[in-house]
Amino acid sequence: MNETVKKLWPELEWIEEKDLREKTAKVWEYALEHSDLSAQDLYEIPFSLLTEKSVSFIAHKRSVVHICRESARVMREFYDDALPINMDVLISGAILIDVGKLLEYTKVAGICVQSRMGKLVRHPFSGVALAARFDLPPEVLHMIACHSKEGDHGQRTTEGWIVHHADFMSFEPFRSMK
Ligand SMILES: [Fe+2]
Repeated sequence: MNETVKKLWPELEWIEEKDLREKTAKVWEYALEHSDLSAQDLYEIPFSLLTEKSVSFIAHKRSVVHICRESARVMREFYDDALPINMDVLISGAILIDVGKLLEYTKVAGICVQSRMGKLVRHPFSGVALAARFDLPPEVLHMIACHSKEGDHGQRTTEGWIVHHADFMSFEPFRSMK
């Protein structure tokens, strides 16, 4: 596993199945190679261009993975077999939901802005394209495709619902804060 990606995402170690862990890391490695942003930028740019107040991209994306894991832990404790949750799929998908933003953003005079690609092809679509290159399973592609508003008209999987709410519960408060 590439050291840069390993440092960005300590949560990769939570994925127990080696093949899925390696593939998840490979998607990030490839996206970084093809992005106008560097790994260092992810510690500095805002996680969204739609909020006035923000935290860094990587702080936000890592927090979503942690919220997913904690939520799944509680849900498993109370629902047990009544609502099966695949933790490996959940963590892999949560790490990958916004990987397409590496193509959605660019930098102009040091400022992070939406790229032409981002205007025409939002990150749920580019994220699926990136992940499909590395043969991620459909359950993970589904999470990337449906984590955002694009997934509102379909039926999400359990892991898809968890990551959707984890992402939005940590986005909407920033958007409504002036
Ligand atoms: Fe997103």
